[in-house]
Amino acid sequence: METRNVYVDHAATTYVDKRVIQSMIPYFDKVYGNPHSLHSFGRVAQKAVNDARESVASILHCTPKEIIFTSGGTESINLAIKGVALSKGSGHIITSKIEHPAVLETCKYLEKQGFTVTYIDVDKYGIVNPNDIKKAISKETILISIMYANNEIGTIQPVWEIGTIARKYNILFHTDACQATGALSLDVSHLYVDLMTLNGSKMYGPKGVGILYRKKGVQLQPLIHGGGQEFNLRSGTENVPGIVGFAKALEYAQKEKQQENKRLVALRDNFIKKVILTIPKSVLNGHPTERLPNNVNISFLDVEGESVLLYLNEKGVAVSTGSACSSQSLEISHVLDAIGLTHDAAHGSIRFTLGKETTKNDLEYVLSVLTPIITSLRRISPVKVKKSEIRKT
Ligand SMILES: Cc1ncc(COP(=O)(O)O)c(C=O)c1O
Repeated sequence: METRNVYVDHAATTYVDKRVIQSMIPYFDKVYGNPHSLHSFGRVAQKAVNDARESVASILHCTPKEIIFTSGGTESINLAIKGVALSKGSGHIITSKIEHPAVLETCKYLEKQGFTVTYIDVDKYGIVNPNDIKKAISKETILISIMYANNEIGTIQPVWEIGTIARKYNILFHTDACQATGALSLDVSHLYVDLMTLNGSKMYGPKGVGILYRKKGVQLQPLIHGGGQEFNLRSGTENVPGIVGFAKALEYAQKEKQQENKRLVALRDNFIKKVILTIPKSVLNGHPTERLPNNVNISFLDVEGESVLLYLNEKGVAVSTGSACSSQSLEISHVLDAIGLTHDAAHGSIRFTLGKETTKNDLEYVLSVLTPIITSLRRISPVKVKKSEIRKT
């Protein structure tokens, strides 16, 4: 088979949809006013931001005033968690062991400031048991932060059930929906969330734009002070082209998700089946069905994921080991550790995340180059792990 370029790392980031780029272009050189200026240049820019806010709000089933534009997932998460914590002054936070570092590091920072944090375990698929959340609640609990879908293994959490518990105990609930933004329902009236983080760069929108949904009445301490933009919660001149692009990308993603998810699930499941059948000692990580439509995470026993990534790269295939953010270091992913994999099993894990342009032929090509790579790496590998020994005892 001829070498081809196959990008299967869409959970790290996606390209920007051409229709989204078109929608953004006028806001670089034609409508370039500052939305806070009172003249007509400013007013047109302000209208673009307002229209984008209304469009996002209608998808989330909330009011425009509940939408705060930020610079992306990390900032929204920081604003949600630190914003609640600083406005309360003290208290206890519940989160899970498989959150993105944007959540975990924020929680660790708050622990140093005197807050207490419970990191809930997950099951072998990476799913949080809502009962464990209930058990962790105390009189001091001020916030629960559980991600909607995991960035490494794609597991989808029972957000609605957790939201129901949070509401019953009158505790604020934040969900990091960065990976769910383009694929899952974002209707906050059904999810029972008080705060929700969305990311543009994983759903064919521009990088550097995100939103935080903040339910009316939720008190947040701003982290960035200045001119009072975004309802005094996120000062700084708005990224108008980015905001316009974010809203357009979200519109397309939500409109097209049903059909696209169906296509992706079929491709995903067929690829998983073929890999497991063709390559011995390969194990799927995450839940077989409760996972993002585009996520495939497989541990290839007796090999180093990093070597597989580099050899695949030589063949034009872009994948990830664990999450892009942690793949710089050789420590095993905290997510694979939390689902109980041993060091050796976790080291051989590869994440393939499919996208809108991924085809069956692309995945056949991936399999055709992957198989000999794994075979030759295993030949020189000193590690021999049995399939029955991949979990910590
Ligand atoms: C689940 C999750 N949360 C948060 C983030 C952080 O988003 P950003 O890098 O846009 O700040 C990411 C990005 O990979 C993510 O996957």
